[in-house]
Amino acid sequence: MNKRIEDKSRKRVLSGIQPTGEVHLGNYLGALRQWVEMQDHYDCFYSIVDQHAILGDGDPATLPSRTVEMAISLLSVGLDPEKCTIFVQSDVPEHLELSWMFNTVAPVGDLERMTQYKDKSARYDSIPAGLLNYPILQAADILIYRAEAVPVGEDQKQHLELTRDIARKWNARYGELFPEPEAIVPSVGRIRGLDGNKKMSKSLGNTVGIFSEQEEVWSGIRTAVTDPQRIRKDDPGRPEVCNVFSLHRLIGDQGKISDIEIQCLAGSRGCVDCKKILSDDVVNQFAPFREKAEYYRSDINQVLGLLESGRDKARKIARDTLKEARQKMGLDWRSIF
Ligand code: AMP
Ligand code: TRP
Repeated sequence: MNKRIEDKSRKRVLSGIQPTGEVHLGNYLGALRQWVEMQDHYDCFYSIVDQHAILGDGDPATLPSRTVEMAISLLSVGLDPEKCTIFVQSDVPEHLELSWMFNTVAPVGDLERMTQYKDKSARYDSIPAGLLNYPILQAADILIYRAEAVPVGEDQKQHLELTRDIARKWNARYGELFPEPEAIVPSVGRIRGLDGNKKMSKSLGNTVGIFSEQEEVWSGIRTAVTDPQRIRKDDPGRPEVCNVFSLHRLIGDQGKISDIEIQCLAGSRGCVDCKKILSDDVVNQFAPFREKAEYYRSDINQVLGLLESGRDKARKIARDTLKEARQKMGLDWRSIF
């Protein structure tokens, strides 16, 4: 039995990731690296949120393989099923029941104010109700485990505020049950795209996947936007505005970063050279991920087994919480007989 998971003094943590298939540099640096660190200090639950993914362009033909691929990615970047619980959201249908309960307390006005809703709803002629209610399901994902901390990227902070509001409102109406979880956002903030876009994301095609081989990594990084004012190779650069330099800072070792900074400021190292170093560092960081992924792909039953035990652990807690929520809301009607 895993002692760490049994340790009641450890704070409970939950986070979720959409099954986009492969993890990329942005969600790895912006969130997952933190998930891996946290598994040693908290009782962590990590969910592949397939029910969130069926909104928008979720293709039913590829969703199953994207879900399993995401599990392989999570295992490959270093999540250890001995230390944390990895599961698929739709395997724990209790989230949905709690989400309906939260629909009765969450104000529509708050949902309409969510930045992600405003951005995404602009793409639809007819906005699906699920897009508005998405953060309610996210709140249920978190609160069904009574999680106290949620490691997420910068863009999810607002959803966490809403989650706290929902917990507060529900507790005020029905009695104390849910904690008010805090977002744990890495200091790196939002990772900008290689094209200079404010968000690095797979759908914008401005990133590199963690299983990319050398050539693919280089073809992404080669064209990355640097300091727009640096025209010639020997112009002095401004590392503080250069996205390639901020990626160096996230990936390289301290000595190398200082050298690169000095050479850039002096105009003694050109951008192409600087990108080559970054590309090599990324390839080296990714190499063990590719190896691990190969191992898991060759033993897919092991992955399925891990997701099953993850589901069982998650479901046990989810059922307990739901039972209490039902009682408090008067839905356990048989109890009067
Ligand atoms: P997603 O891949 O959109 O499901 O996001 C998974 C996690 O990675 C969430 O916590 C996001 O906030 C985080 N994330 C995704 N892209 C970025 C990015 N470009 N910068 C920082 N965090 C990110
Ligand atoms: N909305 C999150 C994203 O797009 C994914 C997510 C779903 C999540 N449920 C969650 C994140 C619960 C943290 C906790 O990245």
